[in-house]
Amino acid sequence: MATADQLKYLIQSHFDNDETRFTTLALQVAAHEARAGHQQLAVEIRKLIDKSKEQKAKIIPFKADLSGLVLIDHDLPDRLADLIVSSTMAGRIERILKEFRQQETLKSHGMSHRRKLLLCGPPGCGKTLSASVIAGELSLPLCTILMDKLVTKFMGETSAKLRQVFDAIAERRAVYLFDEFDAIGAERNMDNDVGEIRRVLNAFLQLIERDQSDSLIIAATNNHAMLDQALFRRFDDIITYHLPDEKERSRLLTQRLGRYKGKAPVGKLAKSAEGLSHGEISMATNDAIKDAILANRKSVDPKVLSLMLEERHEAKRRSKGQ
Ligand SMILES: Nc1ncnc2c1ncn2[C@@H]1O[C@H](COP(=O)(O)OP(=O)(O)OP(=O)(O)O)[C@@H](O)[C@H]1O
Ligand SMILES: [Mg+2]
Repeated sequence: MATADQLKYLIQSHFDNDETRFTTLALQVAAHEARAGHQQLAVEIRKLIDKSKEQKAKIIPFKADLSGLVLIDHDLPDRLADLIVSSTMAGRIERILKEFRQQETLKSHGMSHRRKLLLCGPPGCGKTLSASVIAGELSLPLCTILMDKLVTKFMGETSAKLRQVFDAIAERRAVYLFDEFDAIGAERNMDNDVGEIRRVLNAFLQLIERDQSDSLIIAATNNHAMLDQALFRRFDDIITYHLPDEKERSRLLTQRLGRYKGKAPVGKLAKSAEGLSHGEISMATNDAIKDAILANRKSVDPKVLSLMLEERHEAKRRSKGQ
């Protein structure tokens, strides 16, 4: 028989909605039984796990045709440890995960878990990655709603499409990411505002307010200043992203370089990367790694990495017209 601890942890992981842990523990029980000579039982447990995986792999289509508007990713590998952010920010994301996993406990006390999130901040600082981490950690699919397509492609019927997206949110539990949210989130009374966008935003405000689904809804924007004030109170949490500080830049460089780090002076490089986003630093690191691979070297050339970072600074200056 499985040990008392195994049973306890198995039950706990079920109530925490932690599917990955549940599967790992179930496999451990199977291995334990096999070692104890209960081969038949071990085989049966493994079969149950495989069958459940097969069933999950079958993708249930949405009722409405949302093709081209919603991208669906399953089994995302991203984990909280991949996200280089301040400890305060990591704590806020951990709180979202914890409340989601223990939503039943909260419900039994008349409380609801945070599930409507607004992520703001400059490009390349981890908003999309965070959505992916949340989906990955909770073993939920990530459904990305392509806001620009929703608005431009279906001008005139955007609100109806948006309603269908919210029907899908209620229909299938997942993490729904409204990326590039400013496409509809611009202030309602802005001069350049077209009537259609205002109608869409009003529809969004009503839909998100009414939403009682089990899904997590995330809106991401890098245009915080443009967002309508009315939006803010519809979200349970507003998380603001920043360019990485020196410590975060060092951690990011070390993480990104991995086994290609060699003798690269990470501290010095982190200083020279000031002002660059996580995304830009990651791209510079990848370029230096590619250079090492093609030159048949086992680690990056610090001079090349330094040059790649300078290239990113240069590109940024150019894009700002400096
Ligand atoms: N905080 C972070 N920690 C680790 N890597 C990061 C972080 N932020 C960004 N990256 C890297 O940069 C890439 C781009 O980041 P991401 O797409 O999350 O940016 P974003 O904030 O959504 O930007 P945008 O506003 O342009 O959509 C990521 O795929 C990842 O490789
Ligand atoms: Mg993004």
